[in-house]
Amino acid sequence: MAKFVPVDPFDLVIFGGTGDLSRRKLLPALFHRWLDGQIPSNSRIIGSARTNMDDNGYRDFARAACKAATREDWDETVWQDFANILFYYPMDATSADADWTSLRTKLDPVEGRPCIFYLATSPRLYVQIAEALGQNGLSSDPVRLVLEKPIGTDLNSAREINEGVAAVFAENQVYRIDHYLGKETVQNLMVLRFANTLFEPLWNRNAIDHVQITVAENLGLEGRADYYDKSGALRDMVQNHILQLLCLTAMEPPGSTSGDDIRTEKIKVLRALAPIDEKEVLQNTVRAQYTSGLVEGEVVQSYQDTLSADEASETETYVAVKTFVNNWRWAGIPFYLRTGKRMAKSHSDIVIQFKEAPHSLFGDTPVPANRLVMRLQPDEGVQLYVQIKEPGPGGLRIKSLPLNLSYAENFTLRYPDAYERLLMDVVRGNLSLFMRADEVEAAWAWVDQLIEAWNTSSAPLDSYAAGSEGPTSSSVLMDRDGRKWWQG
Ligand code: BG6
Repeated sequence: MAKFVPVDPFDLVIFGGTGDLSRRKLLPALFHRWLDGQIPSNSRIIGSARTNMDDNGYRDFARAACKAATREDWDETVWQDFANILFYYPMDATSADADWTSLRTKLDPVEGRPCIFYLATSPRLYVQIAEALGQNGLSSDPVRLVLEKPIGTDLNSAREINEGVAAVFAENQVYRIDHYLGKETVQNLMVLRFANTLFEPLWNRNAIDHVQITVAENLGLEGRADYYDKSGALRDMVQNHILQLLCLTAMEPPGSTSGDDIRTEKIKVLRALAPIDEKEVLQNTVRAQYTSGLVEGEVVQSYQDTLSADEASETETYVAVKTFVNNWRWAGIPFYLRTGKRMAKSHSDIVIQFKEAPHSLFGDTPVPANRLVMRLQPDEGVQLYVQIKEPGPGGLRIKSLPLNLSYAENFTLRYPDAYERLLMDVVRGNLSLFMRADEVEAAWAWVDQLIEAWNTSSAPLDSYAAGSEGPTSSSVLMDRDGRKWWQG
């Protein structure tokens, strides 16, 4: 039975309060926390955006958003209670005429109570809004600032954001979101690694052959073509989600679960990532864009056709990279990373492929190697493949079968969406699942050198049919090393 410990009363202002993220994720997440009794009824949630509407207009907007995202039976009385803590403040936060004084009056900050400003806006506005908050006396502790990814588009722009924000807020007031860190199965990575003595002695180059991290999506751009075409899969998924998964897989055990202890270990991994230069880039990376195809029985148009522009886009919707973590634990062990849109099916997994037995006792009978598969989504679970003797006569046959730990079979509760956990952590002041400024910059530094290598080597843009397993060049990248992608 899950226990929800109520958080202290808080005030939350969401800039971009009528945007896509608020509608799809933030408001439903807050409503679910309300349904579980975690949010005290004297808290306040204030949406703010340019749209002119009043509190009731915003409650209608939020009601539609929450109803669409709620799987439980809809209870209008509970909704009305939640609606009572919702307010709206129309303002263009970037305009010189923005009336911060009225916002301050509406907010009327309560001494000692967490006051959170969530910037669900374009990253271009982060510094400007942070400065305005500072100038209007809305930046001293316990004020907290939440920044959505992406933090910038490269190392320089990320630094500008971090420095601009740091001029107003202390680092421990800033919560940089990577929503993958709020996923139950991603949090389980730390538990699996550090609450079981079984794995740690094997978690290194002596026992592990290689690691694969896959985040495959069958979805396309979902109306975000403007953003995505300037970004591409490397910036959109690898710079943040995939590198965070890599960090949690490869990091040393932190001294504690405190924000700084975990983040200090993660950054060591990012700094140890092998740069991919122009000589290796053609061999060790693949970039590709999807053409039209069939996804789950439906015809899907090509990436190019989803854009309104006539000009041919060079943006990658798929990326695969072979890299290394240059330290004692992982020296020489490849980490294969891949992500793509419009793939055959959505699945995110981390696969730890162990080495083969050093000597076969069983003559010519092939002995496969052990494999640990951490299925992050969907069908969440962990599978440890072990070899067993297939029963029956007719000679010795060895079969690889999983010890299967399925979340669905073991837990009946609904898994909270990542944003539910992350929002409550902001209220609690727990920074462990958020990215520190130096971490974001280290991830950009690695991505920037890869983009530069792509540019200088004129890395070709390959293609793959929507609904496929990705481009052939990605399988070739594995074949060359005598390995295969895990099919999920
Ligand atoms: C976002 C990316 O950060 O993560 C999207 O911008 C992507 O392009 C999404 O679709 C994937 O998140 P999830 O939780 O659906 O795996």
